[in-house]
Amino acid sequence: MNRRKIYEGKAKILYEGPEPGTLIQHFKDDATANNNEKMQIFDGKGVLNNKISENIFLKLGKIGIPTHFIRKLNMREQLIKEVDIIPIEVVVRNIVAGSLSKRLGIIEGEPLPRSLIEFYYKNDKLGDPMVSDEHITAFGWASPQEIEEIMNLSLRINDFLSGLFSGINIKLVDFKIEFGRLYENDAFRIILADEISPDSCRLWDTTTNDKLDKDLFRNDSGDLLEAYNEVARRMGIISKKNKTENTGPVLIKG
Ligand code: TMP
Repeated sequence: MNRRKIYEGKAKILYEGPEPGTLIQHFKDDATANNNEKMQIFDGKGVLNNKISENIFLKLGKIGIPTHFIRKLNMREQLIKEVDIIPIEVVVRNIVAGSLSKRLGIIEGEPLPRSLIEFYYKNDKLGDPMVSDEHITAFGWASPQEIEEIMNLSLRINDFLSGLFSGINIKLVDFKIEFGRLYENDAFRIILADEISPDSCRLWDTTTNDKLDKDLFRNDSGDLLEAYNEVARRMGIISKKNKTENTGPVLIKG
């Protein structure tokens, strides 16, 4: 199909949509870590993330979180509203892990006294540096009112997703989300954009603390596809038998 590519990121491609104001978000099988230092293709990861993210965005929409999601188009693609992306990655943390553990020397797994929100400036060349709301307003990336709205939405998303995952024996350790600006009814609104999937969350089994997210690839510590399948199975998105990886030939044993 001859479509105009708008943007290609590490795990997704954005194409021009069928109508003005829409885009097609395509989920790739590529996984990258450490700002592109490490790269691997996982056959079927894009299909799983498309399903998981669709499911989460639909549920968030139902509780009143405005999102860019319109509908799933096929196994790897969804139709989304075109927004003006705010160049900030918002990280919400419930348990110490990853860069917070390294930066402050706190042991991974320590529950936080309250949920923390952190901001990172989206810039691959600079390695997405952490910034404060002062930087965000001083450099005009978002207004104080927009930051307040982003923080309110992020905490609502965190509460909802923590409950959702807790119901399927998963701890929502932390996650990264992105927001955009949409001009609607003579006003700009902040809406949730991008994706929410095991690529952008830390998900630990509540009983065993087994990792069910991209840390398995970052740390070479387990089977990423099996973990993503497990998350999708527990969410009721795929059946127990149904796996989306390995679309290649199957060896029939005689
Ligand atoms: P961090 O502990 O490495 O700062 O990551 C916090 C959360 O954000 C974790 O769930 C992974 C997610 N994340 C992304 O989705 N993309 C990124 O580029 C980074 C650095 C983190």
